[in-house]
Order: sequence, then structure tokens, then C-alpha cells
Amino acid sequence: MKNEKRLVMALVVLVVMFLVLLGASGDFGSATPQQTTEDESSLADEDLIVVGFSQLGSESVWRATHTASIQNALSKENGFFLQYSNARQKQENQIKAIRGFISQRVDYIVFSPLMEDGWETVLTEAKDAGIPVILVDRKISGSSDLYTTFIGSDMEEEGRKAGLWLENDLARRGRADDPLNIVVLTGPFGSTSQIGRSRGFMQVASQHESWKILAQESGDFTVVKGKEVMAKLLRQYEDIDVVVSQNDEMTFGAMEAIAEAGLTTGIYGKMKMISFDGVKDALELVDSGKINCDVECNPLQGELLAEVIKKLEAGERVEKEYFVDELVFTKNNVSDYLSDRVY
Ligand code: AHR
Repeated sequence: MKNEKRLVMALVVLVVMFLVLLGASGDFGSATPQQTTEDESSLADEDLIVVGFSQLGSESVWRATHTASIQNALSKENGFFLQYSNARQKQENQIKAIRGFISQRVDYIVFSPLMEDGWETVLTEAKDAGIPVILVDRKISGSSDLYTTFIGSDMEEEGRKAGLWLENDLARRGRADDPLNIVVLTGPFGSTSQIGRSRGFMQVASQHESWKILAQESGDFTVVKGKEVMAKLLRQYEDIDVVVSQNDEMTFGAMEAIAEAGLTTGIYGKMKMISFDGVKDALELVDSGKINCDVECNPLQGELLAEVIKKLEAGERVEKEYFVDELVFTKNNVSDYLSDRVY
């Protein structure tokens, strides 16, 4: 009898654990599209444009702002029904989500590709199903026939702006020909932001024999990895003059590592710090002089996306690429923008 009771208890525990795990996978891991606001049945009643949006993850404040911008613009009040899926930094999750959108026969697929390579098969499936694909934030390699349009930043131009800021800053101080040791913390290799920003910066760097690129290492666009990589570089190289950090999160991490090593950054410090994104916390560091230059990457792409989809719905021609407006922030201009920064 005792044994039977134990068996029943063990079964109950197993069933409860199974149910808990099921719930958790809905919260943390599911890459299949989930409905965000309403159930499917109400869709049929209303004339909403159904959009499947696969976001690549939630690694940064920039990314959270980008997601919110799209969710806010593709609202029911604005005529949309949005299916949102977060791939949590895994390409296979994005592919799975896109396949889910295809099988649901959404009107449009919007996605921010984690990497440039690897989309041909799934986007051919979307094309065969007659579903237009819109790329946001990042691009894909290969055939441009696989998507209708792109909305986002000119990443190469961002990289160039960083290089030109450095060039002008040195020239202004009469130090144009001084030898300069540079380390670059990059985003994940193979992503548009890494490829573009590196290419743009290197175009300027290649014009300067005195600029030496000591290392280019990925900090995965995160604070933790940015700190880890910077700490390693500080152990490896004694004399770093410039840190180019391809997003603000990595910059925050790198600055922690630099401070822990007893070193300083910025206009009054030992190393020049160049960052990308322009989130509020970083702009405050530009204002206090600890970051020399922050090249903006504008995450507010939702309204333009909604506009473009409405054009497509109306049968109007759209451009192949739309670039959002972006600035360069330094101590000279940042106070004009800080108070309006909401992210
Ligand atoms: O692709 C845009 C980049 O991705 C942003 O610079 C970064 O913060 C984000 O994670």
C-alpha cells in the first residue's frame, strides 16, 4: 500500500513538472509565432493587415526600442494585426518563425536577420507562397529578389562617420600623423551591423598609415561580453589609444573593464572612446566627456514600416531601400538632444 502511494505521488510530481516545463517553454524559448493581442478568430471579422514579425533577440536597449517601435506602429488602431516572435539570438528560431508565418499565410513577413547568410531556402518558400518579405534593421546576402524592401540604417556610413570623426579630431589637435593604436569591439561577425560598421571605419583607417588596428574582436553586442573582451585586450596590449565599440552595450562593459584596470576614457582620459547607437545612458556619458563620439543608429523604424506596408497595400511602388536619419553625437551637440531622448 505504502509503495502504491509512493508511486501515485511520484506520478503526480512528474505530471506537475511536465506542466510547469510546458508553461516555461511558452515564456522563454518558443520561437514559433505567438499571437500578441487577440485570437485568430477575430481576424476574420476585421479588415486588418496581418504581419508576422521575427525579431532577432533582445540583446540591447536599442533592440528593445526597435521592437517597441514596430509593435506600436503596427497596432490594431493603425489597421494591423501583428504576430510577434523573438528568436533569442538563434537563426534557427528565426527560420522556424518565418515558416510558421508562411503556414499561417500572413499578409507580410517582417524580420531583422541575425546574420546576413543562410536565408535563401526559407525566403524562397515565402516567395513561392506569394508573401512579401520586408527586412528591417539588417540585411541579407545573396539575391535581392528574395525581399521586397529594406528599412533601416546605412551601417557602412555609420562606420565611415566614426572614422571621419577620429580623423577630424586628430587633425584639429595637430596630431594627424601621430601613431595610433586602435582596438575594435565588433558586433557578431556576419551581421550587417558588424560588416557595415567595420567596412566603413576601415575605409577611413586605410587612408592613415599611422593608424594601427591592434585587434578586432566580437563582444556580441552585450555588456558582459564587451567587458570580458576589453579586459582581455587590456591584458594583451599595453598602449591602446582608441577603442571603437560597435554598440553602446559593449561600450558600457568596456568602460567598466577600463576603469577596473585603473585607466580612463574620453576627452579628459587616456583612451578615446567611440561608440554606436546613441541610447540615453550613452549620451549622458558623451555629455560628461567619457565617450568622445557616439554615432547614432536609429531604432525608430516602425512608422516608416507602417507607411511602406500601406503603400504596398495600395498597389503603389516602393523603394528597394529606406535609410533612417542618423546623427553623430559629441560633447559639442549632445545637450541639444539629451532631454528628448526617450530610450
Ligand atoms: O543592428 C543594430 C545593432 O544591433 C545595434 O547597434 C545594437 O545595439 C543592436 O543589438
